[in-house]
Amino acid sequence: SEEPIADLLDRLAAVVPDYPRPGISFKDLTPVFADAEGLKRIVDEVIAPFAGRFDVIAGLEARGFVLAAAGAYAAGTGMVTLRKKGKLPREVHAEDYLLEYGTATLELHRDDIAPGTRVLLLDDVLATGGTVGAAVRLVERAGAEVVGIGVVLELDGLGGRQKLAPHEVHALQRV
Ligand code: PRP
Repeated sequence: SEEPIADLLDRLAAVVPDYPRPGISFKDLTPVFADAEGLKRIVDEVIAPFAGRFDVIAGLEARGFVLAAAGAYAAGTGMVTLRKKGKLPREVHAEDYLLEYGTATLELHRDDIAPGTRVLLLDDVLATGGTVGAAVRLVERAGAEVVGIGVVLELDGLGGRQKLAPHEVHALQRV
């Protein structure tokens, strides 16, 4: 029978002690992306809870792009990029969000998502929910609907899921 997704992540993800700071244990997903079975499993399972309920997948820069592009290709939809400030060349909606120190800005081309579109948001990690929160506001400013949020890892205890309520959040693993 198939290996549970949490076991696959434990087997393939690289744990980096004391990164980016002493005392923090960082789970690096790049070896999962680099593995043929790993990439297929995480992409298939991150979109599965939302099957048939979305028109497009939006990915958050940068690792969310990997999931969103592969998921959109698998589902037969288009893919939209939500980018860090200053990267998109045409007219944008912009939303600020809080970082641990300071703020950052996420942008969406105004015409990349039509009003009424059902949007699935994908990212690699949900921590405080600041980044995905900005993504939700961008989609809503385009007049579109967030049907759900899919992530590979959810860091428990940082309030991300609570911040995003009542939006539907699915994580492949909570750590
Ligand atoms: C990381 C991660 C998420 C975000 C989660 O991205 O990929 O996008 O942080 O944190 P939050 O829930 O507290 O907002 P990062 O900002 O490091 O950007 P990158 O993917 O471009 O490296």
